[in-house]
Amino acid sequence: MEKIILIYSSTDGHTREICLRLLKVLEAAGNEVALISVEEAPNYQLENFDKIIIGASIRYGRHSKGIYQLISSKLQALNNKPNAFFTVNLVARKPNKNQPETNPYLIRFLSQIAWQPKQLAVFAGKIDYQKYNVFDRGMIRMIMWMTKGPTHPKTSIDFTDWEQVNKFGKVICDM
Ligand SMILES: Cc1cc2nc3c(=O)[nH]c(=O)nc-3n(C[C@H](O)[C@H](O)[C@H](O)COP(=O)(O)O)c2cc1C
Repeated sequence: MEKIILIYSSTDGHTREICLRLLKVLEAAGNEVALISVEEAPNYQLENFDKIIIGASIRYGRHSKGIYQLISSKLQALNNKPNAFFTVNLVARKPNKNQPETNPYLIRFLSQIAWQPKQLAVFAGKIDYQKYNVFDRGMIRMIMWMTKGPTHPKTSIDFTDWEQVNKFGKVICDM
């Protein structure tokens, strides 16, 4: 049994949902898992865990500031443990942009941080227009229109490949 910490940065809850699925896979394999938000992370000693996993969504082209701060403040703990990072975004719904080597947000993110995660994953996110405020809904609909995605204001589509999430859970178990 290992102690694994899952840290998420999520605005509308989808990255947390993905973490909950990972938690299920990891617990089923006999691990003890702590699931916390990036805001709670400063209260935790990452050194006390055997593995550190961080997941974050993209909003207006970037991961949250909190994720950058977490990585720079906990760099040593991250580098000393088996670790993984995953990103969640809508660009990843496109088959040619859903790999660590092809997802533009992940490529840029890795060039901006000092940490080199040992395992990486890219998951397509969720659109739920009715959850967003007027400004965000308008912006995302415009981006979807430009990238040939769904624009109906009542659209709620989960683009995540949940089997891919299960497989990533197994990768974490094995690392
Ligand atoms: C206001 C807003 C801005 C977003 N900006 C982007 C973006 O720039 N690129 C992208 O691929 N996805 C973008 N997304 C899609 C999110 O990454 C996707 O909905 C994800 O599932 C959100 O995860 P979360 O609920 O954990 O925050 C945006 C979503 C919202 C609501």
